Amino acid sequence: MLKIDSQTNVRDRSQVQPLNARVIDRQDLTERLTILRISYESGDTLPFKAGQFVKLGIVADNDLGNNYSLSSIVPKRNQMVQRAYSICSSPAQTGYLEFLIDLVPHGNLTPKLWRLNKGDRLWMEPRARGKFTLDGIEEHQNIFMVCTGTGIAPFISMLSQYVSKERWNRLVLVHGARNFKHLAYYDEILALAQENISISYIPLLSREPDDSDWQGCRGRVQRLFHKDEIEQITNVKLNPERSHAYICGNTNMIKTMTDLLGNWNFTKGSNSKPGNIHSERYW
Ligand SMILES: Cc1cc2nc3c(=O)[nH]c(=O)nc-3n(C[C@H](O)[C@H](O)[C@H](O)COP(=O)(O)OP(=O)(O)OC[C@H]3O[C@@H](n4cnc5c(N)ncnc54)[C@H](O)[C@@H]3O)c2cc1C
Ligand SMILES: NC(=O)c1ccc[n+]([C@@H]2O[C@H](COP(=O)([O-])OP(=O)(O)OC[C@H]3O[C@@H](n4cnc5c(N)ncnc54)[C@H](OP(=O)(O)O)[C@@H]3O)[C@@H](O)[C@H]2O)c1
Repeated sequence: MLKIDSQTNVRDRSQVQPLNARVIDRQDLTERLTILRISYESGDTLPFKAGQFVKLGIVADNDLGNNYSLSSIVPKRNQMVQRAYSICSSPAQTGYLEFLIDLVPHGNLTPKLWRLNKGDRLWMEPRARGKFTLDGIEEHQNIFMVCTGTGIAPFISMLSQYVSKERWNRLVLVHGARNFKHLAYYDEILALAQENISISYIPLLSREPDDSDWQGCRGRVQRLFHKDEIEQITNVKLNPERSHAYICGNTNMIKTMTDLLGNWNFTKGSNSKPGNIHSERYW
């Protein structure tokens, strides 16, 4: 029987596939935020839909110390710690998956992930999961994507997949971060928005010093939805008949945004009735 520790989601190793993947690239954006590219050792490319996630896993061994290389681990009766990560790369990308990962200093997995360097091995789930996709959404709707921190990840994949396909009428991407250095993919998204008139990109910073060069919006993402500020900035109406909202990141932000969008007559779906608020909770 599969044994799962409810606190740490550690699975008995005998039930888990062996280390099957390697880090092929690592780009640290800050000391707590990194972009990892990971490939299956088999060379396989995983089929997935933009917005989905896979689990990453590392052998949980408290005696590894700080300076070990995961390449040297031969898993025997060790255990695996696994966590879900949204895929940032496009489904059209072959050879690797890309992830944007935040270090939770006292977390079970991320401090171990942080020790990985190019070439180090880990486990990457061989199937993609999740329903946070544009599947089932009619063409040419207005789509509001709202996220904080690493919650931008699934939207990067969606942008890559759909930008050239006229999948939406207007796309509004609102990303809340503490400081400018936490705005992952800023240059790439800005370039897409400049090339595509259908895309409005609204980054907001909550803790950027007053005397910095930042000329953009400040505060938390929800402040744009209290009244019609988002409509004023983007010229896209919060019309529930023609719009869908996708919200990703921390639970409290998702709850606040869901309540606010309710004031604009957006509704969360249920099994019996589809809605136009879609959300992915990271914790
Ligand atoms: C569908 C899905 C997709 C996800 N995608 C991403 C992603 O793309 N990038 C990413 O960095 N994380 C993502 N997460 C979160 C990720 O799965 C882990 O929870 C996170 O990396 C922390 O793992 P940990 O084992 O280090 O900490 P844990 O031991 O699991 O967590 C310790 C505590 O830290 C808090 N916590 C958990 N995650 C975070 C976080 N990201 N920021 C702040 N506090 C947190 C929680 O209160 C938790 O109880 C996703 C989660 C889900 C469910
Ligand atoms: N110590 C550090 O230097 C440092 C740096 C980055 C991240 N972290 C930690 O790393 C974890 C994840 O980081 P993260 O980047 O995903 O998140 P984060 O840095 O905590 O927050 C990202 C953005 O979300 C905002 N936010 C937080 N709670 C919100 C809410 N309830 N509603 C709306 N917006 C909200 C933040 O605003 P506010 O600034 O107003 O909170 C910030 O603009 C957190 O646990 C964080 O504490 C620490």
